[in-house]
This record gives sequence, C-alpha cells and structure tokens, in this order.
Amino acid sequence: MGSKRQTSYGDAGFSQFIKMAFQRHLGHEEEDFEKPVIGICNTFSEVNRCHSHIKPMIEVMKQGVLMAGGIPLEFPTTSIGEMFTSPTTMLYRNLVAMDTEEMIAAQPIDGVILIGGCDKMLPAQLMGAASANKPAIAFTGGPMANGEYKGRTLGACSDCRHFWQEYKAGTVSEEEIREINSRLAPTAGHCMVMGSASTIAACAEALGMMVPGAAAVPATENERLRLARETGKAIVAAVKQELKPSDIMTEKAFHNAIRTLLAVGGSTNAVIHLIAIAKRLGITLALDHFETLSRETPFLANLRPAGDYQMEDFYRAGGVPALLKELQPLLHDEEMTITGQTWRQVLDGIEVDEVYRSVIKSLEEPLHKEGGIAVLKGNLAPNGAIIKPKAVRDRRLLTHRGRAVVFSSIEEMEKRVNDPALEVDENSVLVLQNAGPVGAPGMPEAGMIPIPEKLLKKGIRDMVRISDCRMSGTAFGTVVLHVAPEAAVGGPLGLVRDGDWIELHVDRRELVLDVPEDELKARQEKWRPPVYEEYKRGYISLYREHVLQADEGCDFDFLLPAPKEEKA
Ligand code: FES
Repeated sequence: MGSKRQTSYGDAGFSQFIKMAFQRHLGHEEEDFEKPVIGICNTFSEVNRCHSHIKPMIEVMKQGVLMAGGIPLEFPTTSIGEMFTSPTTMLYRNLVAMDTEEMIAAQPIDGVILIGGCDKMLPAQLMGAASANKPAIAFTGGPMANGEYKGRTLGACSDCRHFWQEYKAGTVSEEEIREINSRLAPTAGHCMVMGSASTIAACAEALGMMVPGAAAVPATENERLRLARETGKAIVAAVKQELKPSDIMTEKAFHNAIRTLLAVGGSTNAVIHLIAIAKRLGITLALDHFETLSRETPFLANLRPAGDYQMEDFYRAGGVPALLKELQPLLHDEEMTITGQTWRQVLDGIEVDEVYRSVIKSLEEPLHKEGGIAVLKGNLAPNGAIIKPKAVRDRRLLTHRGRAVVFSSIEEMEKRVNDPALEVDENSVLVLQNAGPVGAPGMPEAGMIPIPEKLLKKGIRDMVRISDCRMSGTAFGTVVLHVAPEAAVGGPLGLVRDGDWIELHVDRRELVLDVPEDELKARQEKWRPPVYEEYKRGYISLYREHVLQADEGCDFDFLLPAPKEEKA
C-alpha cells in the first residue's frame, strides 16, 4: 500500500509481505493496496481549542478521499494552541514542522491533508510538507463566527486586548469585563479577525495549497464540511497528477501570497512564516522584497484589527477568491493551485458583489494605496524591523522622536511597567530587549508592550514600542517588531540605554538610535551575551543553538535544504 518506502528488515520482499498482513487491520483487501493512500494529519486536541472541533471535518474528508478512489488513513501530529502553550507557541513551531515532515516522509502514504487552524499550525505544516515534498493539501478548522456584546461585534482577540486595556484604565467595570470575557470566543474555530491564523490561511490559499475559497469559511458553516469533502477529492487527484508542494509553492506563488498578506492588512507573523516556508524550498524572500511589494500593493480588505469587519463578513463577501479577483492585475495568475487549475481559471467568472464593497474594496478605490506592512531599517535594526502602519492608533506617532525607557527582559518589563515610580511619559519610547528568538527564547508575542497604567489613566492609548519579539496578529498600536539582529545575539537593540533618543520615521522607513558612533562602539565592546540558567537540555537548548533570526524565518539552520552539490 501507498508509498514505496518500506520498513527496513533487510529483505524488501518480506517488508512488503508483512506490511500487507498488518494493513488488513482496517478491513482492506489486496486490491486496495494499489490505491492512492492519503494521510490525514489529525491535529485534534482538547488543549488546542482551535482544533477541538475538527473530527467531523476529518470524517467528511475521508468520504471525499474514498469517492475519488483513494484510501484515507488518519494519523496524529503535535497540536499547539496559542493560549495554552508556554512560554509561546513560536518556540514549538519548528517542532511541529519536524514532526509533520518526518511523519509524512516515514509513513506509507502517497499524499497528505494538513489540518491547521491555530496560528503556528499551518505554517509549521507547510514547512514540513515542503521538505517532505509529497503531494499535500492544506485545510483549517475555520474561523469562529462573530461575537457580540451590547450590539457591538466582538473579535478575538483584538477585543480581548482592547477591553483589557480599558479595564486597566478604569473605563470598563469588573462585571462588564467578566461578561465580555464570556462572549469573546463564542463558537468553535480559530480567531475571527485578520489575525495570524486567518492571515496564514489566506496566504496558504493564495499560495495554491488549499481548495479555493476554503480559508475564510467560518468553522460553523455547512460550507466548511462541503469544502472538507472537496479537499479529500482534490488530494487524490493531486497524487494522480503527481503535483508536489514544490510544483505549487513556486517563487511566483510566494509573491501572490505576499500580495495577499499586504492586501488583507494581515499579521506581521506571516512575514516570518512565509520566509521560513519558502526557505524550505530553496526560495529566498528578502524583507526588502516585502517592502517593495508593500509600496505597490493596495490595502483592499477592510478587516480588523486594521479595519472594520471580520472573517465571517469576508467569507460572505467572497473570501480570498474575491480578493484575488480584485488583485488579479498584480498577480501571477498563471500559477497552479492544488486543484490542477491555474488562478486565472479559478478567478474566471468571480466578482465582488457590490453589496459587499465595504468589506472588499476595489483596486481603483482601495482602503489605502499601500499594503499593510512596512519594513524599517536603520542603525537600530540593521537587518530590518517590521511595523503595521495601519494598526497605529495615534497617527502622530508615525513620525516620532522620544527618549528610551528600557526593559532588559519580558520579566523585567512585567515587574516595572506599572510601577508608579517609572520615569515615563507619553513621548517616551518603550524598548524591550532580549525577547527575540534566542533571547526569550521563542520570540513571544509580547511586542505590544502594555502602556503604563498611570498613562492609561491619563487617557493615553498608544505609544511607540520597539522590541525584538513579535505581536499577535490581533494586536495594534505603534509597535515596531522583529528587530534584527536581536539583542541576545549582539544586535544594537541590546545597546540602548534609558534616556537615549530614538527616532521613528515610518514614511522614510527609518528606525534610528541617535547615539554617537564612538559611544555605541564602546557599548558594543563591553557587551556580553546573556548567560541562561534555564533550558540547558533538550529541545529548547537545541532551539537556542540553531534558530535563525526573524529576517531569516526563525527556522532551524539544520532544516534548510542541503546546498546543491557542484557538478565536477
Ligand atoms: Fe488559536 Fe487565536 S487562539 S487562532
């Protein structure tokens, strides 16, 4: 059955003989052994709430596989959820990628369905599938339906952050915050704003790795089950056509995915993930390329946290295919999707219904002329940093000069940020060091540094914040992230001291530490790498030793493709 790779007993005939004997446990007969075997990567977990509802989808996928003449075989892989994995899921993305790759490669399957959902799952699965390079198709559990509180639409987790901030400022009562808490995540599914999960799903669809239309369908819609069945059928067809991830995820397909990320105002996390997935296929996506595309890709989808609507509304407006229809003049529409159709064929006949124009804008009248992500450079971030200009709450801060208030770690920030004695005002620049891939470790989503309570109570809701960590795709504010190289490996961010002047010019894409060169040199000479007392063994010590920086995708160096050998 399935893949030609067999368990090794030193006798290939015996390996086949024993495999046939043991495969009969599911009632299969000999003729079944010739059919395409489709692995279904089951990421069900009661701890990962965003994947706790996927079992019925798997059953329907199996129907699709059987209808198309394949044999479905479900198998488990690691499943991690944002709110329940400490210190952060990003620390384990590469573990999921390794698990997924090795299980796809080692098991007797001809193709695989990846079931993602929560933020890090789909990126990890696409990284693993890219390296395994057997036919693969992605699917997700889908976004939650909209939440609602007193007539206001609620979105996880932009409103988790918004209302918590208001609660800390004293404008939301204890009773209200408890009531809001009970309505923030009202149905099964992943977060329903254009956060990281929705963004990476949209990018995976634009890459061509999903059945078109699948990313935006809410978890609770019948349509998601229908598409689960189509996914089962599509992977059998992909196996028959020998369509591998490397055939679908080409350099041009990544450009389509980046355009999609920019047009939906998606999560900054997707920048890291797309770089990492592409690297697995030997494709380099430089940060400068994101910047170039951002300058020429209009922001079309009016979705939170940068806009007004949520995934349920995006779905009703036509989802990713409708968005791509608008973007089509900027796309490589000759690129193939996993269904065997090119995007040009898929988009033929699709149009955005004018009723939904407030959700998906036209290329001629976009929400904003440029895309949702900007890449900053300067002596504070020689290898780049990221900001979401449209998620900035106080537009005046897009150009700002202020004095640094420095926190040397996440723990120190948590201890001191609300200390009434902290010398800080609304013009200060909050700087968080040692929170990057190596430093934290795992680059947690702590980049939306809390505004000190004493300033919140004065009505301040946004400040310039700079760090080498990430922020949730659902977060907002004047937040500079992914500073590379990070402080813990000797990046200039680690040289910033309290009171230093920092300048941010988003229009010029500049981030400058205004300290004389010779003073910075002297600080650099005195700098010593942090000494870590914890995580001296096991996976996390491996992580610290091998993780790449944010601008390189935070993959492990030993998981990149081996350099091609020169022919003699
Ligand atoms: Fe899973 Fe937000 S918690 S996507």
